[in-house]
Amino acid sequence: MRIMFLGDVVGRTGREAAALALTRLRTELRVDLAIINAENASHGFGLAPDMARALFDAGADVITLGNHAWDRKEITGYIAETPRLIRPLNFPPGTPGAGSVTVELRDGRKAVVLNAMGRLFMDPLDCPFRLSAVELSKFKLGSSVQAIVIDFHAEATSEKMAYAHSFDGQVSLVVGTHTHCPSADHQILPGGTAFQSDAGMCGDYDSVIGMTKDIAAARFWRKMPGERLQPADGEPTICGLLLITNDTTGLAKAIHPIRLGGRLSQTIPSV
Ligand SMILES: [Fe+2]
Ligand SMILES: [Fe+2]
Repeated sequence: MRIMFLGDVVGRTGREAAALALTRLRTELRVDLAIINAENASHGFGLAPDMARALFDAGADVITLGNHAWDRKEITGYIAETPRLIRPLNFPPGTPGAGSVTVELRDGRKAVVLNAMGRLFMDPLDCPFRLSAVELSKFKLGSSVQAIVIDFHAEATSEKMAYAHSFDGQVSLVVGTHTHCPSADHQILPGGTAFQSDAGMCGDYDSVIGMTKDIAAARFWRKMPGERLQPADGEPTICGLLLITNDTTGLAKAIHPIRLGGRLSQTIPSV
C-alpha cells in the first residue's frame, strides 16, 4: 500500500497549498491512502468544517488533529458525524469524535489510522501508551487490516521514539506531528515499523513554526502576552512522507520524506 502523510497544515496559505499538493501527489505518487494533520488550518488555531471538507475534496482520506483540535468550536458537531476526521484517542471519555478510524480502499484493502497525543510538555491527558495498546489489540496487522498508521502528536522527541519502539512490529508507521519541523530520522525500526519523529508542517518556514516571526519573537523578548499570533503567509513548504508497505505483513518496505515548495530543501520520492 502506498500511504502519504502530510504534517500540520498552518493557515490559509498552508490549506491552499496542501489542497493542491493532495490532488497532485495522489496521482504522481500513486497514493492509495492520504492522511493529513490539520489542527492549525484555521489561522493557526483549529479546523473549521468547511476547511475539512475542502481537504477531503482535494484528496485526503483521513484528517488528524492535536492539541488545537477544539480551537474552532464548530468542529465538535462536525467531528461527531465525520468518522474520517479523528482526534487524539487519549482525550477524556465523553470527548466528541473518535481516536481512530478504519478506512476501506476502493480495492477492498483496509487501513487503520490512529491519532494519539503525548504528555511531555503538553496538556495532561490519559496515557497514550496504554490507550494505544488497548486500541491496537482490536486489529491484527497483515490479516484483519493491511496497514496501521499512527499520528503521534507530541512535543518531545524522546516520547515519540519511546512510543514508536513500543509498537514496533505492530503497526506500519508511527509519525510525529506538532513540532512543525521535519526531522531527518526517518527509518524502518528493527521490527518493521516505519518511523519519523516529526513530519514537519504545510506552512511558511520564514516564520516561527508557521506564525509571523516578529510577533512570535516579541513574546520571547518581552515575556508578556503581545499581539495575537498570525500565520505567516509566504510560500509554504509541503512536508510529509510517502510510506510503502507490504500488504501481506502490513510492515514498512520504504519511507521517503516529502518536502515540496517554499524554503526548505526539496525532496520528492521518485518511486
Ligand atoms: Fe501543529
Ligand atoms: Fe500541536
